[in-house]
Amino acid sequence: MGTTGPAAKSFHVTTFGCQMNEHDSERMKGMLSALGYSEAPSREGADLILFNTCSIRENADSRFIAHLGEAKRLKGEQPDIVVGVGGCWAQSVKDEVFDRFPFVDVAFGPGQIHKLAEFLTSDSISAQGYFEFEDFAGHLPARRARPFQAWVQISQGCNCACSYCIVPSTRGRESSRRSGEILEEVRGLAAEGVREVTLLGQNVNSYGRDLRGEEKRTFAELLRAVDAVDGIDRIRYTSPHPKDMKEDVVLAHAECPAVCEHIHLPLQSGSSRVLKAMRRTYDRERYLDRVALIREHLPDAALTTDIIVGFPGETDADFEETLEVVEEVGYDGAFTFVFSPRRGTEAAALEQRVPHPLKKERMERLVEAVQRRARERSQRFVGRTLNVLVEGPSRTDPARLRGRSRHNKAVNFEGTAAAGEIVAVEIASATSQTLMGSERLLSRAR
Ligand code: 5AD
Ligand code: SF4
Repeated sequence: MGTTGPAAKSFHVTTFGCQMNEHDSERMKGMLSALGYSEAPSREGADLILFNTCSIRENADSRFIAHLGEAKRLKGEQPDIVVGVGGCWAQSVKDEVFDRFPFVDVAFGPGQIHKLAEFLTSDSISAQGYFEFEDFAGHLPARRARPFQAWVQISQGCNCACSYCIVPSTRGRESSRRSGEILEEVRGLAAEGVREVTLLGQNVNSYGRDLRGEEKRTFAELLRAVDAVDGIDRIRYTSPHPKDMKEDVVLAHAECPAVCEHIHLPLQSGSSRVLKAMRRTYDRERYLDRVALIREHLPDAALTTDIIVGFPGETDADFEETLEVVEEVGYDGAFTFVFSPRRGTEAAALEQRVPHPLKKERMERLVEAVQRRARERSQRFVGRTLNVLVEGPSRTDPARLRGRSRHNKAVNFEGTAAAGEIVAVEIASATSQTLMGSERLLSRAR
């Protein structure tokens, strides 16, 4: 028998929601590894079953609740299993988690990941909930899915008041991480072999407004500082807010070799009336001005967006305006959502709900327009040679490779490169979301 205490325990984490949640899960995994836990391949057999939940739309809630049923069964068979529920859904219902699901042992909000370690190392036998908002809680080492890509959190929380959105209530007020700490983390990642970083925040381009003194940096300055770190070939970020997409950020794209040619600019609606009811603080004209500014400096950059259909009171004319913007901008891709009322949000209390069949019909028309424009836009890559960061074998055909272009297009190609390499790929054809091609063996890209 070993001499260093009990046999290693294992954990299993299921993640729902956005990239911030993916990153929070990586940090949970890093923390659990530091506590001596190992990762179990499935929930069956794990000593600690964790869910990192999302609450952005109703279907995110229901997907999670379906999975929770399995944890309940496993805990029924083996009562010493620990079941934990973290993330935004937990934060949105707080201690109600334990009333609704009495088999849950520990629940915590997105800002309280570190409290999981406190719970696991304490002798607590009663269920515990941790839902405070705090400033950045020290550095938690992350267990990354790929050795050459990393997420770097630059801020937490959100000070916007979008009337449909639950995030300000689940992730609290905005607080920027000190720029020195961010750069130290990026340098450390580069030294470990990371080539691509994605800067994460609920509203990345309002970064730095709450910082003071030497640490104060705007988002554009932060991009330039990260670009100057040796070894970082690609910088991405998500999500920016159109209101804060100013010329300094666009110029950082144009002038910094590592900042990728892709901007995600969430539109939400093309109707100024609906945007006002959403409390987005820009109207259609201002949004289109920002697009024009981007196109002026970065004519080839990919633009993607988020759009909500069926916001309360959205008329046919409002929806047509959204379609017009989609046609005019020509997005390279869009995430499209049906409005979902969220507890405690202003829009959940609005009357004039759009009937379900109408939402469905609008969604179908929107998806058709988005995909058609994205397919058209994609054709500009055919015949060109693009640098592709190789992620591994293709999911559909293991004989081919898969990677991403700087424009954030998935690229499926013939080649021999290893995961983590950046190679030149000649593009032969393109669909709305994927480019196909073959590696140019004689010209390995930097
Ligand atoms: N209903 C539908 N979509 C929503 N989003 C946020 N809240 C809601 C909601 N209540 C969408 C927005 C946001 C994206 C992350 O999710 O488009 O940009
Ligand atoms: Fe879901 Fe929003 Fe929370 Fe991300 S921040 S997990 S999208 S509710």
